[in-house]
Amino acid sequence: MNRTIIIEQTIAFVKDSLKGAESGHDWWHIERVWKTAINLASTEKADLLIVELAALLHDIADPKFHNGDEEIGPATAVTFLKSIDLEDDVIFHVEQIIRNMSWKSSLGKINFRSKELEIVQDADRLDAIGAIGLARAFTYGGYKNRELYNPEIPPNLSMTKEEYKKSTAPTINHFYEKLLLLKDKMNTESGKIRAEERHRFMEKFLEQFYAEWNGEK
Ligand code: ADP
Ligand code: NI
Repeated sequence: MNRTIIIEQTIAFVKDSLKGAESGHDWWHIERVWKTAINLASTEKADLLIVELAALLHDIADPKFHNGDEEIGPATAVTFLKSIDLEDDVIFHVEQIIRNMSWKSSLGKINFRSKELEIVQDADRLDAIGAIGLARAFTYGGYKNRELYNPEIPPNLSMTKEEYKKSTAPTINHFYEKLLLLKDKMNTESGKIRAEERHRFMEKFLEQFYAEWNGEK
């Protein structure tokens, strides 16, 4: 099967699987990560087919919506890739990327690294920062009925993952607890450059936000 058809079929499968997904992880998130990953790959030495397949399939079954089951995502991707007759080494590599690129894996049990994983992970992290990241954060905060900001509730950088999930802190805190920390977690040179730019944009946003909050602008 030629490359274009492989990608087209993967897109069709992903769109179908993500029907009705919430806006933080819908098809448009996948499309942004896919496009960004292709751009990052253009200045890195990497296998573009692996990058594209992993970007397209990386959120196919988020454990958060499958009772914490971390096997469903990689297993669904493998079944699909086998159905379109890809070579075993390609399937294995894509599976490893999906398994190892999550935030959680980056905090501990890393057992696989590759340039292709680094690129897709950077593209996914970039989508959490900058203008898009900001929009996603406030969408999430609205969904959870959180305050925009509360000067009496300072950010807390020492929460465990469990505490963080249960926290009802204002959305602005999420910038300090997670989003502003992402630029130092980038893997690739091109990812770092983009992250710096998106980071500065968030800093400017926060500066303007506080000025408006205080009636100064
Ligand atoms: P990931 O896809 O990296 O697992 P999450 O599912 O944790 O990300 O979050 C999805 C989106 O919602 C991201 O853009 C993230 O920044 C945002 N988000 C997650 N937790 C919060 C929070 N406490 N406040 C505001 N936004 C959040
Ligand atoms: Ni993602």
